[in-house]
Amino acid sequence: MREILNFNTDWLFTAEDVENGERQELDERFFCKVHLPHTTMELPHHYFSETAYQFISWYRRHFVLEQSWRGKKLWVDFGAAMSVATVYINGHRLGENKGGYVPFSFELTDYVSFDGENVLAVRLDSTRRNDIPPEGNIVDYLLFGGIYRDVRLRIVHPVNLGRTVITTPRIADDFATVSVLTEICNHTEAPGDITIQAELFFDGQSVAGATKELAAVLSQSTTQVSFPEIKVNNPKIWDLNTPHLYKAVLTLENAGKPVDRTEQIFGIRSIAFNETGQFCLNGKPVKLRGLNRHQMFPYVGQAMGRRMQRKDAEILKYDLGLNFVRTSHYPQDPSFLDRCDELGLLVLEELPGWQFIGDASWKEIAMEHLTKMIERDVNHPSIFVWGVRINESQDDHDFYVKTNFLAHKLDPTRPTIGTRFLDKSEFLEDVYGFNDFRDNVAGKLSLPRYQPSIVTEYMGHMFPIRRFDNDTRLMQHAANHASIQNVSHGLPELAGASGWCAFDYNTHYNFGSGDHICYHGVMDIFRIPKYAAYFYQSQREVSDGVVLFIARRVVPSIYEDGGDTITVYSNCQKVELFINGDLVGRQNPDRVQYPNLPHPPFTFHKGNQWPNGYGPYNRDFSIRAVGYIHSEKVAEQVLFLEGEPDCLQVTVDHDELIADGADMTRVLIQAVDKNKQTLSLANGIVSLTVQGEGQLVGENPLVLEAGQLAVYVKATRVPGEIAIQAYSKTFGSGMVKLKSTELKEKTVPCSR
Ligand code: GAL
Repeated sequence: MREILNFNTDWLFTAEDVENGERQELDERFFCKVHLPHTTMELPHHYFSETAYQFISWYRRHFVLEQSWRGKKLWVDFGAAMSVATVYINGHRLGENKGGYVPFSFELTDYVSFDGENVLAVRLDSTRRNDIPPEGNIVDYLLFGGIYRDVRLRIVHPVNLGRTVITTPRIADDFATVSVLTEICNHTEAPGDITIQAELFFDGQSVAGATKELAAVLSQSTTQVSFPEIKVNNPKIWDLNTPHLYKAVLTLENAGKPVDRTEQIFGIRSIAFNETGQFCLNGKPVKLRGLNRHQMFPYVGQAMGRRMQRKDAEILKYDLGLNFVRTSHYPQDPSFLDRCDELGLLVLEELPGWQFIGDASWKEIAMEHLTKMIERDVNHPSIFVWGVRINESQDDHDFYVKTNFLAHKLDPTRPTIGTRFLDKSEFLEDVYGFNDFRDNVAGKLSLPRYQPSIVTEYMGHMFPIRRFDNDTRLMQHAANHASIQNVSHGLPELAGASGWCAFDYNTHYNFGSGDHICYHGVMDIFRIPKYAAYFYQSQREVSDGVVLFIARRVVPSIYEDGGDTITVYSNCQKVELFINGDLVGRQNPDRVQYPNLPHPPFTFHKGNQWPNGYGPYNRDFSIRAVGYIHSEKVAEQVLFLEGEPDCLQVTVDHDELIADGADMTRVLIQAVDKNKQTLSLANGIVSLTVQGEGQLVGENPLVLEAGQLAVYVKATRVPGEIAIQAYSKTFGSGMVKLKSTELKEKTVPCSR
């Protein structure tokens, strides 16, 4: 049976080019030990130069093989490496991969030794490569460098299974048919005598299956096998609220002996755009409400492992109440997509690129990227459309005929989309994608030019906003997003809209605010929410959690921002607002201004309850909101005047890590008062210490921005306790503890 081993641990790395760095014997004194995912350069969260990571580096991994793998086929699978990786085994060049967003694999079998040590070496070029998408011109995001996704060693029998594609051609009320298409790769000289079994599981129970026998499968060849109609009775449908997942287990027997097994997760669901332009999931129209996501994190760029990738999907689904995400502008980490499947979050995934189209060889690489994206991700039920046009590029008839054709050939079940900003642009895809920034601040979208249409971006640079900006601006930003979603929800002929964007991101100097951040997110780069995040959250269904949020800071000089308006974002039916215990009003959602939203905001004006705008106030001054559903009180929030520093609140997103040397979680540090309210003007210095089996990733000392900021804590290779302490002369101290547990996955035996 196949074995897939973790190949992430114990690499040696040097941040420079080395002559003949692939040689088995090499002076490695200038290499240091690292574990993957890895960035070639840790950076401050802003104010750094992109040239800091644009260099060539080398990675090396020494390993030995188990004798039981003799006679097997060995492959190394890279999740991705930015940007051009040349891979060597024992000094032999295996090949080169161009482009940092797609996976690549090389076969090692013929060059490895079972008697001694092996060295896998990677020369990684992270300079700006204008010959490879997305580069060519300047792009509005940074690429960073590193082997920043997982690496695996795949050990398979010479007669093995290849890629598996699963579709669900028929879905009726009480049954569905599942089609499983797979490959048998016979790398032997003998014809195979094959039995292949496909078994479908739901919730651990076998629910259907089929078997095929194939006598004399050709030697040295790949043969396609299909199970066109496996019937599943009473199928559990993948939907936004019930994202049921099935597993297909394929077992291959050669000459009566089981030799390979693969597992593939899939979902049973139908997608379509109807004749009026609506998107339908399982036959029912769903208005798409989304945001764009860059897979970028502070300090480490894209080198963030599975845990935080998965966490981002949870943030998008629950904290931002979305039903879809656009993976702007490239295929994203597979663990992010896995989590979207598990949560019921639809995904628009697109090929790498930004505005620029290069020459013929550039286009060929783009086609390769598109192929790899679809081949890698075709079984994700969350993906509902493929982006086959370089984001915001000019028309290019021949190129886009080809990308569309390729996508349809590789996946006849999903439509294609192309995202443009041109007014008049050739519409070659199935869905028209339009980045519509024109009148966003006036709360407008243009009428869709074609059907079906999705507004793939809005707002972004039209209204950048830092989390530490004043309340007036933060409130306006949230209201702008609410207005555009209101328009989108009111246009039945528009399938939906995704705002720019979910999280602030690092970019080139030429974009954003000049400090290498585009502050376009509804959350900052640390995933700390701005008010607009609560607008999105409040649109979620009550079954995903009641939301009630007063978008307002409360400080003695109450009029300095925001005037007399208090906006409450909530999915309740009625909200009461109290100032100092006195009722300001009991209100319905503001359906006058936002008639189309699932959950319009609640807008209150102070009346005469608000003190006269200039203190002194009692320290117990408060604003309280109470939310009701069916006349029942379901939520309450109280904001007191921001008080004086009490302590530093230190929290972690996860209290357990895996001791694989790369697993990380976020550590949020907040200066709070005695009511645990963040002090919005606290911009002081905080010193951090980590004790035990963890390492700090990020700035230390750290300067708070509007009372808070985050770093990450990374597990070492040794399981144990980790304690993080934060200290500030002004804001006090705080600490948090977590632990790391042993890495259970089998790793490739390391010899140095
Ligand atoms: C768009 C572009 C995005 C981002 C955004 C900023 O034109 O597609 O990648 O740059 O502008 O608002």
